[in-house]
Amino acid sequence: MSASILFMCLGNICRSPMAEGIARSALAAAGRTDVLVDSAGTAAHHAGEPPDPRTAAVLRREGQWHPMRARQVEASDFERFTWILAMDEANLRDLRARAPAGCAAAIHKVREPVGGGDVPDPYYGGADGFERVHGMLTEAIAAWIARLPPR
Ligand code: 4NP
Repeated sequence: MSASILFMCLGNICRSPMAEGIARSALAAAGRTDVLVDSAGTAAHHAGEPPDPRTAAVLRREGQWHPMRARQVEASDFERFTWILAMDEANLRDLRARAPAGCAAAIHKVREPVGGGDVPDPYYGGADGFERVHGMLTEAIAAWIARLPPR
């Protein structure tokens, strides 16, 4: 079975849709269209909303945009995905608390293969925060793609 990746943040409107857009483009460029990619939030406040306009602007500029709608993580995600990749410690804690014992998914922080640390929440800051998130995620996602099992 092919690998699958779920990117997770709090609201699923800023960081995890950014990761989803980057990963879809990078996987297509690597010829890995077999890998399923999605994103979700630990919270439900923004469910049904499109990505934050600041995330959308960066993805459009980079040619990495595709339409997305926010959703909250659900129990079936822990069985459907190979990797669930969290943006920060709070996301990781929330995910581990929700994960059924012995679930199929491996849960990690997204920056783990590139030195660890959090991808900071850019929601209350300026456009520069979204640029920084894009750079941090681009580096991390390349490292995860290099770790994928062969097709
Ligand atoms: P995200 O950013 O978790 O990267 O989608 C946030 C979006 C919304 C809120 C916080 C963070 N909020 O508090 O509404």
